[in-house]
Amino acid sequence: MRWAERPVAIRDYMAVQGRIHNFGAGPAVLPLEVVEEVASALPNLNNSGFGLLEVSHRSGFFQDVIDSARDRIRRILTIPEDYHVLFLQGGASTQFYMTALNLLNKGDKADFLVTGGWSEKALKEALRIGDCVSAWDDSGNGFKSVPVGGGFEIREDAVYVHYTSNNTLFGTQYHKVPEAGGAHLVVDASSDICGVPLDVSAHDVIYAGAQKNLGPSGVTLVILSPWAVSRIGDDLPTMLDYRTHISKGSMFNTPNTFGIFVLDRVLSWIEMNGGLEGAIERNRQKASLLYDELDRTTFWAPHADSDSRSLMNVTWRLADESKESVFLEEAAEAGLGGLKGHRSVGGIRASLYNGCSIESVESLVSFMVSFESRHG
Ligand SMILES: Cc1ncc(COP(=O)(O)O)c(C=O)c1O
Repeated sequence: MRWAERPVAIRDYMAVQGRIHNFGAGPAVLPLEVVEEVASALPNLNNSGFGLLEVSHRSGFFQDVIDSARDRIRRILTIPEDYHVLFLQGGASTQFYMTALNLLNKGDKADFLVTGGWSEKALKEALRIGDCVSAWDDSGNGFKSVPVGGGFEIREDAVYVHYTSNNTLFGTQYHKVPEAGGAHLVVDASSDICGVPLDVSAHDVIYAGAQKNLGPSGVTLVILSPWAVSRIGDDLPTMLDYRTHISKGSMFNTPNTFGIFVLDRVLSWIEMNGGLEGAIERNRQKASLLYDELDRTTFWAPHADSDSRSLMNVTWRLADESKESVFLEEAAEAGLGGLKGHRSVGGIRASLYNGCSIESVESLVSFMVSFESRHG
């Protein structure tokens, strides 16, 4: 039986003994069905006789896997036919530099919307190539918001605008594409790809590390428009030139075969569970459960401004910060893990990516209600 034909249903996330509710920011929880499919492919991939970790990337067996992953992501995100889809390595962090290297000639301009630590890093790397500036920077406000109603100016001759669609550390997110005056858009969608709506054709480069919504670490999805490819100059280092990977179907060198397999299984799971719409609906439900609890009582102090709240990473402090370590200890005892906030915000962070179940969020919320009644 081919993988695509296997029935997939959302299974109890805790069905394996000892597994906890995992709210970690990445690598993050995957649907249990996917984890089990991966386990069963380890000794023998798709009846090929080759184990998943032992199969050649040059074999037809793996070619089927990568073709399937590419087709699925195209379907799920409605990627225009003339756009390219790549599975690269080096993480989103390599893309901070690679996007600028491919799109800018020395001295060309690009403008950045700086909404957190990751966009700061993207700007820092792009500065190695071009004349790059922050058109908007929320650091003075503790990165509590994204530019919801505009409020920034893009230089007329900027080649593109870069933004981070979801700020994993601070728990903020754009709920529509930023108004960039018609400029070309480059987005780091690492922490919300395939979890929220995404208008691919409004962008020229989309990149995302897979390890939050899409699979394990070690695979970076890159989507490129024909315009982006037309910008690429000559004499770039081979591995940093997008055309190298386009011409070889992401197999110029040995790709992350394991990671691409898992990615394909996660994408199949998404398709079998209502597609992108289904994922968005579940993510909205989970986020609203948790934000309702955060808004119920002043015991909690949510970090993000309400119009910039993320559906993927929910960040908050306790009004009495001295109780945060007890909160985390008791949460761990209750089987709720990965909740410690990033050091740049502190407090608590719950990541609600696609693999996180509604039951996990319900368990978190009932723990929070009980914690407040005991410590409030
Ligand atoms: C929004 C965002 N961009 C970039 C990165 C860096 O990704 P990588 O570790 O894959 O380089 C992360 C990682 O958490 C992220 O959340």
